[in-house]
Amino acid sequence: MSAPTLTAVQPLRIGPHVSPTPVVLAPMAGITNTAYRQLCREHGEGFYVSEMVTSRALVERHAETMRLVTFTASERPRSLQLYGVDPTTVAAAVRMVVEDDLADHVDLNFGCPVPKVTRKGGGSALPWKAELFRSIVRGAVAEASRGGIPLTVKMRKGIDDDHLTYLQAGKAAEQEGAAAVALHGRTASQHYSGQADWEAIARLKETVTTIPVLGNGDVWSAEDALEMVRRTGCDGVVVGRGCLGRPWLFADLEAGFAGREDRVKPGLRQVAQVLRRHAELLVEFYGDELRGCRDIRKHVSWYLKGYPVGGDVRARLGLVDTLEALDELLDSLDLDLPYPGAAAEGSRGRAGSPQARVALPEGWLDDQELTGPAAEMIRQAELSVSGG
Ligand SMILES: Cc1cc2nc3c(=O)[nH]c(=O)nc-3n(C[C@H](O)[C@H](O)[C@H](O)COP(=O)(O)O)c2cc1C
Repeated sequence: MSAPTLTAVQPLRIGPHVSPTPVVLAPMAGITNTAYRQLCREHGEGFYVSEMVTSRALVERHAETMRLVTFTASERPRSLQLYGVDPTTVAAAVRMVVEDDLADHVDLNFGCPVPKVTRKGGGSALPWKAELFRSIVRGAVAEASRGGIPLTVKMRKGIDDDHLTYLQAGKAAEQEGAAAVALHGRTASQHYSGQADWEAIARLKETVTTIPVLGNGDVWSAEDALEMVRRTGCDGVVVGRGCLGRPWLFADLEAGFAGREDRVKPGLRQVAQVLRRHAELLVEFYGDELRGCRDIRKHVSWYLKGYPVGGDVRARLGLVDTLEALDELLDSLDLDLPYPGAAAEGSRGRAGSPQARVALPEGWLDDQELTGPAAEMIRQAELSVSGG
């Protein structure tokens, strides 16, 4: 299939930062640590966002959270995602980012659908409380702007089809000074099931007119990214699961947006080299070989998707505990195997079924104001564990 053509692709501007390729690596808990961000960035231009860090854990300087906010010298701009439900705590966290010079861009997470988060009114549940959402964004923008740092918002369409929030929240974020808004075209209730609704991204683009609108959901290839921009008019694409086990997707995206048709079609040797480098970067990130090797295990099946590698080696790669053992296993593969084509492409990562009912605080949907017990709960609901 030839690449869909676009008349002109504009660079993506987030505050003072510009990427000629309008692409953002989506924050993914347990994935987009400095090791993976670095690896992706080596393949192409864009914004590369950290996994979510909770405001409370940051303010309290939890050791694991402080590790998650590390960026290497080659990572510029540094994009950090924060999660929070209480305006005071979120503002304090952004103040700390500015005062300690931890990042060059802060993204706020209003898209997380996991019950642990929505049950406390956080993530994708939060924009329903319109004034609370607005005051979190307002406070965060005020603190970020003191350091000249742009503040962006990432959200879902809403809680479910009867409680859509994205147009109202997008407009509010724009009015409160956000530098961009990103929309994952699913509701919390959909979780990762079905198809992302790109039509909603187009609606948001019509509604939010003065800052970039970024589209997210089901971009598995450069062709998908170009198609999303063509169909929605969005100013950039946010890519999550599509790059799992294939950080070279960012090279394809760069080529695609530059109007080129070349795509990375790695043989197994090249895949093994990138997997090895990923493991090495993880070991560096953790400062611990075993932890780094444990972490690479979950990436193995994504890297090998579509390559005819036997179940036995896959299983052993899934238990690897030293770089030496990893090298031995990779060397045992038939590294001359060529790129397998379509089998290596397409969807990967989380899918699953819709949630019948989104876990929410009691009475959350009764109205869009934050009143009564919910208000007190929000004050106490800050999660203290980062990374999802
Ligand atoms: C493993 C995993 C972890 C995620 N963690 C986060 C997160 O920390 N913050 C966030 O805003 N979204 C998170 N997401 C959602 C993604 O950023 C993205 O919105 C979603 O995967 C849809 O994009 P995709 O279809 O390109 O994957 C996560 C998704 C996955 C699959």
